[in-house]
Formats: sequence, structure tokens, C-alpha cells
Amino acid sequence: MIIAIDGPAAAGKGTLAKRLAAALGLPYLDTGLLYRATAKRVLVAGANPADEQAALHAAQSLTQADFERPDLRDTETSKAASQVASLPAVRHALLEFQRRFGGQHGAVLDGRDIGTIIFPNADVKLFVTASVEARAQRRWLEFQTRGETVPLAEVIADVAARDEADRTRAAAPLIQAPDATLIDTTHLTADEAFARALEIVQTRQPV
Ligand code: CDP
Repeated sequence: MIIAIDGPAAAGKGTLAKRLAAALGLPYLDTGLLYRATAKRVLVAGANPADEQAALHAAQSLTQADFERPDLRDTETSKAASQVASLPAVRHALLEFQRRFGGQHGAVLDGRDIGTIIFPNADVKLFVTASVEARAQRRWLEFQTRGETVPLAEVIADVAARDEADRTRAAAPLIQAPDATLIDTTHLTADEAFARALEIVQTRQPV
């Protein structure tokens, strides 16, 4: 079974995807990490995240250690991830890995284009979103928990700018697949979002 979870930044996709994967005994892939790790490699090399050749080289050179870096979620890397993610060569280089990951034993994958491009025939497609204020507030709390002090207004601006870039890019833009079910988590707790998602999965795939 393939479960595709797409949506804008900090909508709660990761938390939801991890819980669904654990409940259903499926592997989980956070596809945002592929773009974050690629971006980090570009930044560490002192290259420009908008340079397609440099970003492609980084995507093709990824190793396990790149995914284990503790600094993949900072603001600079998030912005650079969105930049490398707009480059068709980078997306193409990372596509096969994602398909192979899901193709082996099924999987829950979260990202921006899972239900539209990576697995257009996914068994279940969820589009998880929330108001920009609610999403930025959650991201701000994550930063606080990690001991990083960033003004909330700055987090709102960063999240909104990244959403705009992800939605308007030509390559695999963030859009809700026509057959995806929308879950708006603005007024839902993580438990409520999980219960709703599980109900949708069980309706589609009776177990
Ligand atoms: O955790 P958050 O929702 O903030 O972001 P993420 O899922 O880690 O993704 C970081 C960036 O990678 C996004 O802003 C997108 O530009 C890009 N991305 C993408 O283009 N396609 C995916 N399947 C996953 C992420």
C-alpha cells in the first residue's frame, strides 16, 4: 500500500505520516529530507542553491551521513531546499529513489508531489494543510524546543515565502491532487488529525 501525504510547510505531514506508518506497519519516507540534504551539501560547498549543475551534483552525491546532519531544519537550509527543489534536474535525480523506496514493501511518503508525480496511482492520497499562522506557530514552537529563538513574525514570513515558491514553480508545483482528501489541521490536535487520516485509509483500504 502506498499512502501519499502532500501539503505546505509545517502542516503536520511528518507527524501524521510517521504515526500512520507505525500503525500500518509500513516504511516511512520524509521526502523533504532529500531536498534539505541536497541543499545543505550545496551550502557547505559554498555554491549557490540556484545553480542547477551544483545542485544536481549534490543530489547525486548524497550518502546516509547527509540525512543524519542535525542542522537540516534551520531556516537557511529550508529556503535553500525550496530553491534546489525548483530545479528539474534535481527532482529528476531524486525521483527514482522515491519510487524504489515505495515500490519495495509499500510506504507512507510525505512531501509536495507524492500524489501528483511520484505515485500518481497511490492507494490513498491526503492533502494536509492549515492556516499559515497555525503552521508558523507550530514551526516556531519546534524552534523553541530546539533552543533556537526566532521571532514569530519571521517564521510566518519564511513559511509564507516558501509556500509561494513551492506553489508557483514550474517543476512539480505543490497542488492538491484531484483525488486527494483534504485534511485541514488548523483546529485539529495531532491525535485528531491522526484519527481522521486513519479513518480515510480504512475506508479506502478495508483491513
Ligand atoms: O517540514 P516542512 O514541511 O517545512 O518542509 P519539508 O517537507 O522538509 O520540505 C522542504 C522543502 O523541500 C519544501 O519547501 C519543498 O520546496 C521541497 N520539497 C519538494 O519540493 N518536494 C517534496 N516531495 C518534498 C519537499
